[in-house]
This record gives sequence, C-alpha cells and structure tokens, in this order.
Amino acid sequence: MHTVVIDHPLVAHKLTALRDQDTASPTFRRLADELVTLLAYEATREVRTEAVNITTPVSAAVGVKLAAPKPLVVPILRAGLGMLEGMVRLLPTAEVGFLGMIRNEDTLKASTYAERLPDDLSGRQCYVLDPMLATGGTLGAAIRFLVDRGAGHITAICLLAAPEGCARLERELDGLDIPVTVVTAAMDERLNEKGYIVPGLGDAGDRLYGVVG
Ligand code: URA
Repeated sequence: MHTVVIDHPLVAHKLTALRDQDTASPTFRRLADELVTLLAYEATREVRTEAVNITTPVSAAVGVKLAAPKPLVVPILRAGLGMLEGMVRLLPTAEVGFLGMIRNEDTLKASTYAERLPDDLSGRQCYVLDPMLATGGTLGAAIRFLVDRGAGHITAICLLAAPEGCARLERELDGLDIPVTVVTAAMDERLNEKGYIVPGLGDAGDRLYGVVG
C-alpha cells in the first residue's frame, strides 16, 4: 500500500477550517467538496488514458483521453457521499457505485449492508471515498469487497487518516496483488479511546449531514 499525504497550502487552509468546531454544516459541506477536488487531482495521477488523434485550428495533434472502461467512483455511505460531487467534478465521465458498510459493535467487523456496483469489476480502476481513515476496518472491508469483484487498481481518498488505521490497512491488504494507494490531506496524531481521530474534525457524517437520532 502506498500512502500519499498532500502537502499544499490550499489543502492545509481548507482542512483547518474543516477542523474548526465553529464551522457549521453548510460551510463544512462546501469546504469538504473543494478539498476533495484538490485531493482528486493528485489521486488521479495514475488514471488510465489512451492516445487520441485530434485536429487543432492549426494542425493535427495527438492527445490523450480517459481509457475505457471508465473509472469507477465508490463513496462509502453515509459520509463518503459528501465527497462525491467534489470527485466527479474532476472525473465527470466516471461511473458511480455505492457501498454501505456497517460495523458490528460486538465483533468489530465491518460488513456490507447496501451495494450498487457492477458485478464484474475486472481490471477496473476504483476510487473509494471515505472521509476518515480511523481504525481502517471499514475501508479495509470496502477494498476487499472491490477486489473480490475483480477491481484491478484502487485509490482511496480520505480527508484525514490516523497512523493506526494506515498500519492496520497495510497489514490487512498485505499480499493483495493489485496496487492500493491512500491519498489524504493529513496524517493526524492518533486515535482516542472512542476511535476518533485526534485532533481530527469530529464525526464527519454528523458534521456534513447533522446528527440523525
Ligand atoms: N469517523 C469519524 O467521522 N470521525 C473520526 O474521527 C473517526 C471516525
């Protein structure tokens, strides 16, 4: 697994505002959206392209276009939805699939409660959207799910990551024979006893969409 922490003043600026507990949901949603677009720029560095012949007003030229099959963007419900628009702004022709993951509080294992994805992902490039890489359980299970369907290349985009979650992902994905990259705006200090990222930004789903009782 390859982890990329984006070092850019605009990313740091937007992330700081996201972290601030006084940033209300409408601003939080807008900033998350903008931040994802910045992360997506870096996360799509390996997106597959193919050569295309075009004619400019001046001459013939060879350029590139995104190769088929189209990239697949997979937000993990619910908080990953807050990252979708920011991602497809850069990849408007991507297909979008959905994955709902839930953690069993007794076994601590993440499982799938909803999915809308192609049955066959053979060779597909997948971009998984999950704002908080905390324990790594959910993201690990999501990546396994996509790999079991045949995904050939996975990039996870996370607003924030914790070292514990990255270490667990590394362990759990050890032996996978496809490339997995995690792109994040920051690697924070640690997890607290409740599994929150410190200093973090709190509960990403609640801050995007409010507390649902
Ligand atoms: N999920 C969140 O929304 N926030 C955290 O800090 C950890 C997991």
